Order: sequence, then C-alpha cells, then structure tokens
Amino acid sequence: MIQPANIGLMQNKILMTAVLTGAMWLAASRCESADSTGASGAKGSGRKTIAVGFSQIGAESGWRTAETKSIRSEAARRGVNLKFSDAQQKQENQIKALGAFIAQKVDAIILAPVVEAGWEPILKQARAAKIPVVLVDRGVNVSDDSLYTTLIASDFVAEGRMAGEWLAKKLNGKGNVVELQGTPGAAPAIDRKKGFAEALKNYPDGKIIKSQTGEFTRAKGKEVMEAFLKAAQGSGTKINAVYAHNDDMALGAIQAIEEAGLKPGTDIIVVSIDGIKPAFEAMVAGKLNCTVECNPLLGPAAFDAVEAVLARRPLPKKSVVRDRIFDQSVAKDVIGSREY
Ligand code: AHR
Repeated sequence: MIQPANIGLMQNKILMTAVLTGAMWLAASRCESADSTGASGAKGSGRKTIAVGFSQIGAESGWRTAETKSIRSEAARRGVNLKFSDAQQKQENQIKALGAFIAQKVDAIILAPVVEAGWEPILKQARAAKIPVVLVDRGVNVSDDSLYTTLIASDFVAEGRMAGEWLAKKLNGKGNVVELQGTPGAAPAIDRKKGFAEALKNYPDGKIIKSQTGEFTRAKGKEVMEAFLKAAQGSGTKINAVYAHNDDMALGAIQAIEEAGLKPGTDIIVVSIDGIKPAFEAMVAGKLNCTVECNPLLGPAAFDAVEAVLARRPLPKKSVVRDRIFDQSVAKDVIGSREY
C-alpha cells in the first residue's frame, strides 16, 4: 500500500474490485516470472533485488529534473536496480524504452507519459509479459484501465483553477490574459487549460486573448511571449497578465517582458504552476506574482506502489497529490524550506 506520509497529503480514490483483481493477477504473474527467469534475484539474501525500468519524458523543466532526481535517489535508497531512459520529449522513444524493458524482463515499469494518447499497444505488450506499469505524474487515455496498475499524480485541473481564481481576484475580474500552454496532448497542458478557463468563466471581463504552446520550456516560453508582446504592440492591445502552465515558461516570459522594457510582476502580472525554487526567487524579486505547487517528489510513492504490486498488496487506481498555492506575500518566508 502506498504510504500517504511518503508523498505528503494524498487523496486516494480506491476502485477496489478492479484494483484487487489487477494487483493479484500482476503479483501472481511476477512471482512466476522471477522464478522462471531468475532475472533479478539476489542469491542467498532472502530478499529479491528488483529491476525497474523508468521511462522519463526528458529534462524540459526544473520540475522534471526534480522528479528524475527523486526517482533515482529513492531507487538507490531501496537497492533497486533502476534502468533509466530519457525520451527527449518523444513518445516514440518512450515506446522503444518500454519495449526494451519488456525484453529485459524487468520486474516493473515506471512510466511518466509525455502525452495521453497512443499507449494501448505497448501497454498490452507489458501486460502480456506480466510486467506491472506504474504511471507517475501524467495519465494516459486507454479504453481498459487494467493496462496500468496505478497512477500517482497531481490534479492538474485543480491547479489551473487555483491559478485562474487567484488571477481573477488580482485583476479585479477584468483584463487581457495571454496563456502559455504546455506540450500539446500532455495531460497537464489539457487539464491546466481547462481548469483555468473554468475559473475565468465567472469573470466575463477577464479574457484569454492569446493562447499558444511554449512546450514547457524556458526558451520557447520566451519566444512565444515575445511574439505575444509584438502582436499586442502592433494592435494597440494591452496585455494585463500571463498565465503559464509551468514556471519555466513563466521565467522565459519574464525575460521577454523585461527585454520589451516592461516590468514583469507590475506592468504585467505573471502566474504559473510548479513551485520550483527559481520561481520563488522570481517572486522574492517581485517579477513573478504567484505559483501553484505541483509536487515532483514522487520517488517514494512510486516505489511504494511497485513494492505493493509485487507483494500482491492492493493499490488504489489513482493517488492524487494535493498541491498548494503561493504568492509574493509569502515567498520570502517559504523559500528556505522549498525542497526542489
Ligand atoms: O507533468 C508535469 C509538468 O511537466 C510540469 O508542470 C512541467 O514543468 C513538466 O515539464
């Protein structure tokens, strides 16, 4: 069972029947596989050293780097043989990595899926090979959710809603907002857009005037913000605020705003999501106004889930990490305690 203490405040939605069946089936099959292949057994210790494949999206943001670090250090702490693969933002690379993990007969797979769609064939291969798949950070769209064991992630819609409500209040319900979206097709890009739009619906004078992907990177966030500022200047439109789906894009946008001779945080309000240390530094400097936390320290919960499924313990289908919101008023007090 995942220990809630290991992931901070976590809400578990337990779909018992499906989960118990899936967990027992997977656990039973893992025993078979370990015995018959001897793939990763630790001789004589009485305790099996497990091999786990981790398919990571890439290193596009400070958040992603913190997640990788958390998974790597937790694997080391537990003596897990971790096989790490960086997909460099490409789903095809993740699919190849999963294929390689299956061929290597790992005990379990941890997957942070770059986009939601297109996973069924490879997840079916994992299931056929009796290898449980734990999803971290982002979800997938599959018709049969027994294709994965469990999902450990934040509620991205709630994050977008928190950012939207905070901004609407800050703007007194009125203003032109530009939006920097995450990777097209990625769960956090889809859901953070949705949550933010939901919050803004209650404020008819608060409008999203432009929305484009900045691919969750600082460089692209800057580039897109430059284009937004240029277009606004050309049409004589004022941009009152930027909503970025992650801190890295917001930090890029801040640079673009400064280079355009404006003051980020004052002339243009900036709100984003993640809660990485550089975002707190930008808040202390008065350049970023608000960030909604998205906890990347998923290593302990991910390996709790792996151990649970291999030990035939039941798991919830989804564990939701609860996130908080921080603005400039608290940034100075909180920055010292940030873990990522
Ligand atoms: O899936 C989580 C998102 O992915 C983070 O907000 C972003 O920084 C990362 O790239």
